[in-house]
Amino acid sequence: MKEIRVGLIGFGTVGSGLAEVLLAQQERLEKRSGLRIRLAKVADINISEMPPQFGDVALTNDAADLIGDPEIDIVVELIGGIQPAKTFVMNAIAAGKHVVTANKALLSQEGRDIFAAAARHGVEVGFEASVGGGIPVIKALREGLVANKILSIMGIMNGTANYILTRMTDEGIPFDEVLRDAQQQGFAEADPTYDVEGIDTAHKLAILMTMAYGMNITHNDIATEGISRIEPVDIEFAREFGCRIKLLAISRNHGDHVEARVHATMVPERHLLASISGAFNAIHFTGDMVGNVLLYGLGAGKMPTGSAVAADIVDIARNIATGSVGRVPPLSYLPEEISDRKITPME
Ligand code: HSE
Repeated sequence: MKEIRVGLIGFGTVGSGLAEVLLAQQERLEKRSGLRIRLAKVADINISEMPPQFGDVALTNDAADLIGDPEIDIVVELIGGIQPAKTFVMNAIAAGKHVVTANKALLSQEGRDIFAAAARHGVEVGFEASVGGGIPVIKALREGLVANKILSIMGIMNGTANYILTRMTDEGIPFDEVLRDAQQQGFAEADPTYDVEGIDTAHKLAILMTMAYGMNITHNDIATEGISRIEPVDIEFAREFGCRIKLLAISRNHGDHVEARVHATMVPERHLLASISGAFNAIHFTGDMVGNVLLYGLGAGKMPTGSAVAADIVDIARNIATGSVGRVPPLSYLPEEISDRKITPME
């Protein structure tokens, strides 16, 4: 059986989740892919030895050592942030490695450079885990909805913010206390400002808009406001109107231009999005052929995100094995569908 060797940079919450997924599902993945997918090496500056259950996985504290290892086929970047993540990803691509990343900040800001480099070097970049945690939202948009013009994208795309709002609403727990809890559970970003100020949601919306509309935009193009100023009185006020407060990403395709924004919204209790609790995400697309599609699942956390990263690894491994690399398309593979690049916050 052909072996595909994976090198993992970053053994934090998601990295260790990926290692557990690959170990727990080893046999299943072999049966389903016809390949042995082996975590061969981990690079992390914070651990001095691998937990024993992972057997003979090599450990280094130097990412360059992993990237330069000729045995490694796929480099997985799970450290987050722009630098040094971008350097690692670009170096891996230049070394002819395929890359899998969950890094939404990196892709929404530097995606153009990364995918251009990947095209030059004939390698693939998988990013399923960058949006929606364990929900296969990238595959749904790229494959399941490929025959649609996407008319709108809307949803709850940050598990931490939704967890905070849910517990503030249902249990009356103060903002700071719930945020600490979300951090302990491994939902929040290293800098939770990204979660609570809507920036992480804007990163994800920028990725989906780039894919759906063929536009190269960054999160800086999206009017963004978070939930840090939401107080119990706002939640009570919403309740009196029969609503719950949710942090929503909203984008509509108007044909000649698009509308996009991220902000806290009063959602009527009878609306499906009002019932999305805790770290769950729900992402709604409207396609011109299919109509409404709603994807729901855990949008953050170790195992769900590990599952999404593993899916990309299997996709790329299959392509390596069949010699059909290039089947995983880049972030923006559609011709631009919008005649005017204008992005308006609200109409
Ligand atoms: N911090 C992110 C969230 C992780 O809470 O949704 C998943 O992208």
